[in-house]
Amino acid sequence: MDKLQIVGGKRLNGDITISGAKNAALPILCAGLLTAGDLELTNVPRLHDVKTILRILAETGLKVDHDDERVTLNGSGIDKLEASYELVKTMRASILVLGPLLARFGEAKVSLPGGCAIGSRPVDQHIKGLQALGAEISIEGGYIYAKCKKLKGARIHTDMITVTGTENLLMAATLAEGETVLENAAREPEVTDLANLLVKMGAKIDGIGTDRLVIQGVPELHGAKHAVISDRIEAATFLCAVAATGGDINITNTRTDIFDVALDKLRELGLDMVVGANSIRATMNARPRPVSFRTTEYPGFPTDMQAQFMAVNTIASGTSRVTETIFENRFMHVQEMNRLGASIQTEGNTAFIKGVERLVGAPVMATDLRASASLVIAAMAAEGTTVIDRIYHLDRGYDRMEAKLSAVGADVVRIK
Ligand code: EPU
Repeated sequence: MDKLQIVGGKRLNGDITISGAKNAALPILCAGLLTAGDLELTNVPRLHDVKTILRILAETGLKVDHDDERVTLNGSGIDKLEASYELVKTMRASILVLGPLLARFGEAKVSLPGGCAIGSRPVDQHIKGLQALGAEISIEGGYIYAKCKKLKGARIHTDMITVTGTENLLMAATLAEGETVLENAAREPEVTDLANLLVKMGAKIDGIGTDRLVIQGVPELHGAKHAVISDRIEAATFLCAVAATGGDINITNTRTDIFDVALDKLRELGLDMVVGANSIRATMNARPRPVSFRTTEYPGFPTDMQAQFMAVNTIASGTSRVTETIFENRFMHVQEMNRLGASIQTEGNTAFIKGVERLVGAPVMATDLRASASLVIAAMAAEGTTVIDRIYHLDRGYDRMEAKLSAVGADVVRIK
């Protein structure tokens, strides 16, 4: 298993290009199941999760042509309406094939995703929504079996805001008969990017970017070309990195209009930023100030940035308080940061962080994607050497992170 060895204390200086967003690319690739036409996608990030979803899609008979950041899909030969446990168990987003397969072919068999490190993450809302659209669904032997003659539009109000739930139901509704209204829809920019692609494919969707999506079903969708939106979480992760190490970086190929409160919080902790339309120049020359926040759905503070901001808070000039409201177990990085000398205590879903003067390198273990990124940040700010084990989590969702960091002066080496 690969590890990352990081020698801390190096300031970051230079340019970093941001890749396409993982959480937009995954649903968008699944949209290839909705049409017999060609879907030509660019700005697709080079990630392990992208490879996994492409394997799942290829198993259905979807033709996949993958060349670096370009992917072309053709869905004219799909003949297996199934996603197997072997692949689904490695990535929960695989559930995104359920809505499209069912809507286009009237049938799907998809493994029920298991638990995961950050929480139980059930998919009951996906199932409830598809049932409201007329699907018959049963669960047997760990598989979801879904069937319908033709999905029929309905009004669906999910019990909570769910990102992939909204995406699954949105994709299904594009081919349902009549009107579907999705109330309490997720407003994340990645949902909007999927909706924009579906419109290019011929879908009729109103309310894009709001919590009420109104979809008029159409008989079929056609091929389209689309560039995946830039990854706001990747961009904010690098901004946290420079806030922790000090330095001067310029991030490019970003979309600064879709940043949530993360940019305000970065300013609050002392990062000096010049924000252009597609770039951010960020300078940090002082010890970070502590920032407190609660994670919520977009446009609130993203749960996917909680761990990285906590890493900065560990060396801030005071105390802070971080509350996680989206996932019930997303503090696995806390014990690892404490191994580096941080002073963090948790009480339920709140962490109390007392900033320390310095962190000191130690062996630590990555537990999930964003926890891995937060440990990379903490290690770069620490004195001495840190070795991060189980770094495969990082490869799932960050496009060549260590190469991008090395290019701006970090001392990061992968140990095979
Ligand atoms: N939930 C249910 N039932 C459902 C669906 C969700 O109880 O049917 C609960 C979840 O357990 C959770 C909350 O609702 O407590 C929100 O979960 P959501 O469905 O929004 O999460 P997701 O769609 O599974 C996506 C991202 C996550 C990101 C969350 C929240 C993708 C592929 N994944 O997950 O990304 O944290 O939304 O913004 O889009 C990551 O990139 O590291 C990551 C985990």
